[in-house]
Amino acid sequence: MCGIIGVTGAADALDILLDGLERLEYRGYDSAGVALVSAEAIDRVRIADGTHSVATLRTATEPLAGRSSTGVGHTRWATHGHPTEHNAHPHLDCSGRVALVHNGIIENHLELAMRLSADGHTLASDTDTEVLAHLIEEGLARGEDLTTAVRSTLAVVRGAFALGVMTTDDPELIVASRRISPLIVGVTDTAGYLASDIPAVLDRTRNLIALEDDQVAELRPGSVVVTDAAGAPATTTPLNVEWDVEAAQKGGFPDFMSKEMADQPAAVLDTLRGRRGPDGVIAIDQLDLSHDDLARLTKVVVVACGSSFHAGLVAKYAFERWARIPVEVDIASEFRYRDPVLDATALVVGVSQSGETVDTLQAMRHAREDGARVVVVSNVVDSSMAREADGVLYTRAGPEIGVAATKTVLAQITALELLALHLAQVRGTMTHEQVAVEFDELLRLEGVLAETLARSDDVAAVASGLSHATDFFFLGRHAGYPTALEGALKLKEISYLHAEGYPGGELKHGPLAVIEPGCVVVAVATGGPLKEKMLSNVAEVKSRGATVVLVVEDGDEDGAGVADYTIRVPAARDMQSPIKDIVPLQQLAYHLAVGRGLDVDRPRNLAKTVTVE
Ligand code: M6R
Repeated sequence: MCGIIGVTGAADALDILLDGLERLEYRGYDSAGVALVSAEAIDRVRIADGTHSVATLRTATEPLAGRSSTGVGHTRWATHGHPTEHNAHPHLDCSGRVALVHNGIIENHLELAMRLSADGHTLASDTDTEVLAHLIEEGLARGEDLTTAVRSTLAVVRGAFALGVMTTDDPELIVASRRISPLIVGVTDTAGYLASDIPAVLDRTRNLIALEDDQVAELRPGSVVVTDAAGAPATTTPLNVEWDVEAAQKGGFPDFMSKEMADQPAAVLDTLRGRRGPDGVIAIDQLDLSHDDLARLTKVVVVACGSSFHAGLVAKYAFERWARIPVEVDIASEFRYRDPVLDATALVVGVSQSGETVDTLQAMRHAREDGARVVVVSNVVDSSMAREADGVLYTRAGPEIGVAATKTVLAQITALELLALHLAQVRGTMTHEQVAVEFDELLRLEGVLAETLARSDDVAAVASGLSHATDFFFLGRHAGYPTALEGALKLKEISYLHAEGYPGGELKHGPLAVIEPGCVVVAVATGGPLKEKMLSNVAEVKSRGATVVLVVEDGDEDGAGVADYTIRVPAARDMQSPIKDIVPLQQLAYHLAVGRGLDVDRPRNLAKTVTVE
C-alpha cells in the first residue's frame, strides 16, 4: 500500500520528507512525489522510476531546498491507474491551491469523478484519489476553511483513506484524517508531522498519536489539534513507541511473514472494496471483457505456479458450482508444452502475485497466440502480465516482502471467487439473492480471519508438540484439498521439513503404505460436503499409528477421539472456507520454522519472484 508523510514548521522540510520516503521504501512502491506549499504556490515534483523513484526525486528536488517549511510526500503502490508520473501523488485541484497525499481506496470515485467533470473540473489522473482534491476545492470555493472543506469532503466519500492536505490559503497548516487506513500524527516544540507508518518519522519525534477513524487533525508548527467528524474535541491516546526503525518497518512484528499474515483481513476486504455496486451487481473495472464475451465462454483455464496455483485450484470449485462452467487448472510450466486445446471461447486466467513469473507469463502468451481471451489476477499494477493481458483483476494485498506467499494467496482466492460470482451473474446461473449471500460471506471473512489469527498461540502449542517430527502429510477433500496443498508447501518452504499434500480419498491408492508411527497427518475437516468421508480417511491413518492434527470448525465434535491435536477455526460457508483454513496451516509452518531457528522471510534456495524457466 502507499506510504505518506507530511511535515510543517521545519526549515529542512524537504529533507525530512525525502528521508521519510526512504524509510517507506522497504514496503515496495512504483513512484513517489513531494509537494511544498507557500502562500504563493505549491511546488510539486513526482517521479515514476520504480524502486529508484525516491533517489531520483532527491536529485530532481534539489532546486526546491529551503523553499518552504511545510510539505507532504508519498510513495505509491498503484491500485487505480498505471504507475506513471501523472498518477503519482501529491494530487492537486484545478486551481493548484490544494495538494494532497492519500493511502487507501475511494470506492465511489467513479461516480464522484463523473459529477465533478460534469461541473467543469479537469481531472488530470486516472486515480481514485484525485477526486478528493477537487471536492476540497469546492469546499474552499464555498468559503469553508481547509479543515471544514476536508470534513465535508470526507462526508461524501466511501472507502478507506489516510490523507494529508494543504493549501496556499493557510500554508503552515496540514489537515490529516483517516478511515480504516492507518495514520499517525506527532509534534515537537516547533514542528508537526504525519505519516502512514511509524518508521517514516521515528527519527524526528516519538511524541505520536494514532488517529481513530474519522478524526481530523490540524497540524501546525509545534501543535496538533484533533477533533471528531462533527468537529468536537477528540480524545487521543499517545503511542508508546519503543521500536527502532527496523522493528517499526515490520509493524512491531518479529518478521515480515507474521506482519503479512496479520495483514490478511485487510487484504481480503480491500480486494472486495467497491466491487459490488449499489444494485448488487459485481463490477470488475479493468476486466475489459464484455458481457457477450463472458456469456460465450465454454471453459475457463487457470494457469499459475506455487501458491497461486493452489488459489486457482480453490477457484475451480467456485467457478464450477456458481458459474456452471468447466474449469481446468494447470501448472503454468506444464501448460504450454502440452499443446492445450484453446480458442476464442476459452478464458485463460493467469494467477500471479508478482505478475512476472516467467512460466505463467509464457503460458498466457501461448494462450493468446491460440486465440483465447486472457486475463490476469495480479497484485502488482502494470506488471508484465497485466500489460499483456486482455483484462486484469487486481488483488489489493499491498506489497508482500516475505518469500512465502501469505496475504496475497488469500487475496487471490477472494478475487477469483469475485470473478466466479461475476461470471455467474452474466451467465444467469445464480439469482441476485444467491450472489448476495456469497458476497456477504466474503465480506464477513474480515472478522473471521481476525478471530483465526488471534488463535496463533493455540497453533504454536501444537507446533511445540510436533517439534521432533520430520514427515508431514496434509489431507483435505473438495476445496479443502488445495488448502492441504498450500499447507504442505508453506511447511516445506520455510521449515525445510518433508511435507506432502493429498486429497484424503487418494491415500488408499498408494500413500497409505508410508504412514507409520512418527508420521504427522494434518487433516482439514472444516465442513464441506465431504467432511464425514474425510474423517474416515483420518481414522485410516490413525489406525496405522500416525499422529493426527485435526483442523475443525468451532463446536464440531465429530472428530473427537481420533485427533492427537485439534486446531479450531471459526465456521464459514464451504466455498469461502479455504480462505480462513489456510491461516492455521501458515501459522503451523511459521511456528515450526521459528522453533527450528530458521529465517522465515528468506528461506534458502528460493526467490520471491521466479523469472527463469
Ligand atoms: O508471483 P507468483 O504468484 O507468480 O509466484 C508464484 C510462486 O513462485 C509463488 O507462489 C511461490 O510458490 C511462493 N513462494 C509460495 O509461498
